[in-house]
Amino acid sequence: MTQTVHRKVVLNAYPKGTPKPSDFRIEEGPIPEPGENEMLIRTLYLGLEPRTRLMLNPTTEDNKAMRPHGAMTDIGKVIPGTVLGVVIKSNNPKFNSGDLVEGFLGWQNYVVTDGEPHPTNNPEGVAICDPELADPIEFIGPLGAPGLTAILALKHEGKLQQEESIVITSAAGMVGCLAGQLALLLDAWVVGVTSTDEKCDYLMNELGFDAAINYKTTEDLDAAIKEACPDGVDYFFDNTGGDMAETIKANMSKNGRITRCGIIANYNKTGWNQSEQFDGQFSVHNHVSEYADARNTIADLLKDEGIQYQRKVFEGLDSAPEAFIALLSGQNIGKYIVQVS
Ligand SMILES: NC(=O)c1ccc[n+]([C@@H]2O[C@H](COP(=O)([O-])OP(=O)(O)OC[C@H]3O[C@@H](n4cnc5c(N)ncnc54)[C@H](OP(=O)(O)O)[C@@H]3O)[C@@H](O)[C@H]2O)c1
Repeated sequence: MTQTVHRKVVLNAYPKGTPKPSDFRIEEGPIPEPGENEMLIRTLYLGLEPRTRLMLNPTTEDNKAMRPHGAMTDIGKVIPGTVLGVVIKSNNPKFNSGDLVEGFLGWQNYVVTDGEPHPTNNPEGVAICDPELADPIEFIGPLGAPGLTAILALKHEGKLQQEESIVITSAAGMVGCLAGQLALLLDAWVVGVTSTDEKCDYLMNELGFDAAINYKTTEDLDAAIKEACPDGVDYFFDNTGGDMAETIKANMSKNGRITRCGIIANYNKTGWNQSEQFDGQFSVHNHVSEYADARNTIADLLKDEGIQYQRKVFEGLDSAPEAFIALLSGQNIGKYIVQVS
């Protein structure tokens, strides 16, 4: 359905801890017109990702080094997030009406952009999605940042050999479930760590993980890791950081490798030094030149059912805050997506 009003979700209040619905509000206005060298995109879907939470905090001593170009959002500004959309008007020779595009353009039903990278709100610029490669919706999941992160971290940092062990935190999340399945294809011994028995069942029985640990109910995580990886952990794919990560790091094998992929355990907290903790972290943005090859590999694996994932689609822009809060509360298996139009 085509909408006649520009609607956007903006920050109403800086969240304290886990965000609440009242931290967000909807604003409406006229549909913006593209200027010189700009295009108008109609949003089809939003891809929700935990890193948005980091952008909802005011700039402080703890995070100012991460924001050399200014705050990513602020009270009254649109919530940053991934958009899959269609170009409906273009004054930019690089983009044509009808192009399917993806970019970090915020939670809104229309967006005007020049498509270029902008450090504060769209660090990689707008990319055209090739519908021949896969269903466009895959470009905000396995063919987007989560899938590229999983495959490129495994390639550059994991370097898994057959029968080596890998432990993954937030293993049923989008990055985690893909990293685990890619590791299974390399004949590694794959152990997922997650928060519910339902997710453990999914990892073991649907995806074929070798072991799954419920970190909320396991009385002794250290003992559970030792039992799952008696020769030590050869590769730790860490999506969460926090105490759980410290316990797993204490169980690394002699040549163990660690990918520090994300620090979700801290995203709702204040008073931690983001620059210090993100220093040295794996960043998919450092491997842009490999995206095309990686996307081809993932698209083939999706077609051959070598990898799979679950996706839940929420209806309407207004559902984005509620879906995002559910994601941060650990309710998701795989990807949470909002259908906007
Ligand atoms: N380095 C990069 O270039 C790059 C690129 C993309 C994403 N990332 C990072 O990769 C990680 C995974 O991203 P994703 O998009 O796939 O999200 P995700 O793993 O689906 O994130 C949601 C999950 O995080 C877990 N979680 C939430 N709060 C937690 C807490 N306090 N402690 C531990 N776990 C918690 C929950 O899983 P459980 O039920 O298992 O607790 C929840 O289901 C994130 O840290 C993200 O920032 C990094």
